[in-house]
Amino acid sequence: MTDTIAILTGASRGIGAAMARGLARPGTRLFTLARRDDPSLAEHARAQGAQLEQISVDLSDLQAASRAAERIASALPRDARRYLLINNAGTVQPVASGAELVDGAAIAAAFNLNVSAVMLLTARFLAAVSGLDADRRILNISSGAGRNPNAGWGVYCATKAALDMYTRVVKQEQGPHGARIVALAPGIVDTDMQAAIRASDPESFPALDKFRDFHASGKLAAPASVAARILAYLDRDDFGATEIDDIRNYD
Ligand SMILES: NC(=O)c1ccc[n+]([C@@H]2O[C@H](COP(=O)([O-])OP(=O)(O)OC[C@H]3O[C@@H](n4cnc5c(N)ncnc54)[C@H](OP(=O)(O)O)[C@@H]3O)[C@@H](O)[C@H]2O)c1
Repeated sequence: MTDTIAILTGASRGIGAAMARGLARPGTRLFTLARRDDPSLAEHARAQGAQLEQISVDLSDLQAASRAAERIASALPRDARRYLLINNAGTVQPVASGAELVDGAAIAAAFNLNVSAVMLLTARFLAAVSGLDADRRILNISSGAGRNPNAGWGVYCATKAALDMYTRVVKQEQGPHGARIVALAPGIVDTDMQAAIRASDPESFPALDKFRDFHASGKLAAPASVAARILAYLDRDDFGATEIDDIRNYD
């Protein structure tokens, strides 16, 4: 019997890659979604005795995202003790001031990945686990950027604010006996996303020096330690009580 079903997006790099390693345990069936597979994760899962299915999908393509969500939902056993959906994949691009935001395809791709694909995966997940007498938890990896404005991040801040509000809506819909859901900011973490931020054009992103300084002065958290703290957070008895949260509140 499978104890835990875990579905994790953005598992190929950064915080997601570290969370995937923590989730791959005996008794867990882990589904991961990203554009690229991670061969070392497959080895890790084998060594740990976890079941792993890596799905290569561009989640900014909503038809592909929908197909992947359907495929996972139809494969879910109904007798697990625990069902987890972690919506972690995200992009900070396009970084541009409001006056420069003219690339409609880039704006749409970011909203698709950061918000719409989350809704599609969540919908299939909720339908698949509806009525089960099991522990059901959804964790949306959000950002402080959804809660505080940052010049040049009109798209990123708006997508994460949308993710936060969507999380609040689902919490209200699910009520006290349904699936639990949280939008959690992970802090500032040393991943490719931070490297992309440091490569921003200073004209488009006035806070560039601050982010370069975070890196130079060692203020970025290591993905493995943040992932371990997020997974511990996911296990909390009171998970879902605070639906808009920040892992730095638990330092
Ligand atoms: N790092 C930070 O300081 C920080 C701060 C606040 C919030 N966050 C949030 O934390 C989450 C993880 O960030 P990270 O720093 O770990 O990012 P990252 O290192 O850039 O990794 C992003 C992950 O998302 C996947 N991804 C990107 N575009 C995708 C697409 N179109 N379709 C499917 N998967 C896609 C990537 O895989 P592929 O490239 O293989 O597709 C990768 O596994 C994001 O939601 C981010 O907004 C990060």
